[in-house]
Amino acid sequence: MEQYVIKGGSPLVGEVEIGGAKNAALAILAAATMTDETVLIENVPDVRDTNVMIQAMESIGVIVERIDRHTVKINASNIRIQTIDDESIKKIRASYYLIGALLGKYNEAEVALPGGCNIGSRPIDLHIKGFRALGAKVEISHGIIIAKAEKLHSGHIYLDKVSVGATINVMMAAVLAEGRTIIENAAKEPHVVDVANFLNRMGASVRGAGTDVIRIKGVPKLHGTDYAIIPDQIEAGTFMFAAAITKGDVTVKNVIPKHLESISSKLLEIGCEIEESDEAVRVVASKRLGHTHVNTLPYPGFPTDMQPQITVALGLSKGTSIVTESLFENRFRYVDELTRMGANIKVEGSVAIIDGVDKYTGASISAPDLRAGAALVLAGLAAEGYTTVEDIKYIERGYEDFDEKLRGLGAMIEKVNTEKEIQRFKLKVV
Ligand code: EPZ
Repeated sequence: MEQYVIKGGSPLVGEVEIGGAKNAALAILAAATMTDETVLIENVPDVRDTNVMIQAMESIGVIVERIDRHTVKINASNIRIQTIDDESIKKIRASYYLIGALLGKYNEAEVALPGGCNIGSRPIDLHIKGFRALGAKVEISHGIIIAKAEKLHSGHIYLDKVSVGATINVMMAAVLAEGRTIIENAAKEPHVVDVANFLNRMGASVRGAGTDVIRIKGVPKLHGTDYAIIPDQIEAGTFMFAAAITKGDVTVKNVIPKHLESISSKLLEIGCEIEESDEAVRVVASKRLGHTHVNTLPYPGFPTDMQPQITVALGLSKGTSIVTESLFENRFRYVDELTRMGANIKVEGSVAIIDGVDKYTGASISAPDLRAGAALVLAGLAAEGYTTVEDIKYIERGYEDFDEKLRGLGAMIEKVNTEKEIQRFKLKVV
């Protein structure tokens, strides 16, 4: 089974190119099926989740041509309306974006209930509430979500919780629905704005994305376009914290600094230096990190997808820190693994109380989910000795060439398959 082997202790130094945003790409790939004309999408990250989404689209007849590793040409003029339930699609939560897209275009969609990371129950009641407000009948039978409408109409939807997925899904379903739809308490994440911009480039009329009220005026049809996905805020944040935890000096390139504001401000607060330019952010950590309090919130608050990374860094800081996870009820599962590396963290419900320790020691650990897996790699980079990280398939769902990019910054990390390869790595890095 593939795993990472890491020898900790090297400060990360240098520059790293950030890829396209996974959580924007997943929705934009689905939205591209809403026109019969050809769509060209650039800066698509080559990660497992986007490849699974493409596979699911192809399974219903969407033609997807890979122009290069990060560029796809999509034509959805010959979709066969059928149930999308191939095994792979159940593995990613974002499969539900195909419901909003196909319901919006054909007034019907049948997609297997999504899976996703085990960070807590992942209900889709708000998605269903939104589809019903637009006139769709929605039922779940045998693990398949079936949504059908005579003709979708406008609606006024108040999302009881700020939900990225529900905001994007309802927005997609509404762009071809007659009349004016309003989504209140909408999510404001950069990827929500990216999807709205993409839909508008296809001829939709979406206003207010990035605020908590989105107004959509239905249009008769959408046309082809070309589009480039925004940089990945969470990949960038992960490398910024990799610099912090290894007392390094890393510049993340091809980013939008505004999207990283909450991350940069927390790094400043715990003692890092931050230098921002138009499309890059430099993080320098020369001394031991300080403690702080963090509360994960919807954008522009501190992202829940950065919660494991900051917790791992605070585990080595001076003093006691508190991290409150406000979005998901089971997103501290990785703390048990971190404890095996010497962390002193007590989790009580949605709160982690972190007493900083002087060092982590390397151990054999496994990635419980995507972002926690990446955070545990960061712990290994800072730890004394060797760490092996299993179940790296979770990490590869959302990080392209993760070990290669880290090696490019001086990390001693390799992807290995066997005990023999681990021994060979240890001989090489001595
Ligand atoms: C998206 O998930 C991301 N995934 C998640 O990133 C991210 O953690 C999350 O947004 C929050 O930013 C993708 O974009 C594919 P939500 P999503 O709907 O849309 C509750 C990663 O690491 N809720 O904003 O599923 C829900 O339980 C992944 O890339 C309902 O109650 O998240 C949660 O408490 C992990 N009913 C809160 O809302 C619903 O119908 C926010 O969830 C929908 C959500």
